[in-house]
Amino acid sequence: MIRIVEMKAPHVPQVAALEKLCFSDPWSEESISGELNNRYSFWLVAEDDGVVLGYIGSQISFPEADVMNVAVYPDSRRRGIAAILVEALVRHLRSMDCTSLTLEVRASNAPAIALYEKMGFALVGRRPNYYRHPKEDALIMRKEWEV
Ligand SMILES: CC(C)(COP(=O)(O)OP(=O)(O)OC[C@H]1O[C@@H](n2cnc3c(N)ncnc32)[C@H](O)[C@@H]1OP(=O)(O)O)[C@@H](O)C(=O)NCCC(=O)NCCS
Repeated sequence: MIRIVEMKAPHVPQVAALEKLCFSDPWSEESISGELNNRYSFWLVAEDDGVVLGYIGSQISFPEADVMNVAVYPDSRRRGIAAILVEALVRHLRSMDCTSLTLEVRASNAPAIALYEKMGFALVGRRPNYYRHPKEDALIMRKEWEV
């Protein structure tokens, strides 16, 4: 059964491997591990019997929060895992009286943009040439709610 739990040290190597698989400019295992000791960070993993299928990382600057990254293993996509990770993160942020969640996404990343639109994020801006490898604009998307 898939469970959504807060990321702990034993998850980090699997999260780093998934990060490397999915992104051309991945966070290192060391950087991800550092998030465990960052009081402003909150990362969740979707795990099935100890196997990490996906994760979402966030940093909170009250009352706002930002998504650092979200990814799901290719074999496990389109099963609603990213959606439940986003929902669980928003539930946690609401419990902390945060009121918005912002993220950047590659302008060409249609699956992720579709996910965020479905989860209630709106387009609020664009950062030209924000990404490297390859160079690309970022769309800025935000979800806001009442406390
Ligand atoms: C984007 C990503 C996290 C989505 O994960 P996922 O678990 O497959 O997403 P879900 O199954 O929860 O999808 C929820 C909704 O998002 C949208 N969506 C997700 N993948 C999609 C795709 N390939 N094409 C179109 N819509 C898509 C759909 O609306 C979907 O709902 P539906 O299946 O009922 O139609 C995954 O594709 C991924 O890991 N991509 C590589 C990493 C990445 O680009 N991360 C985003 C960085 S900003």
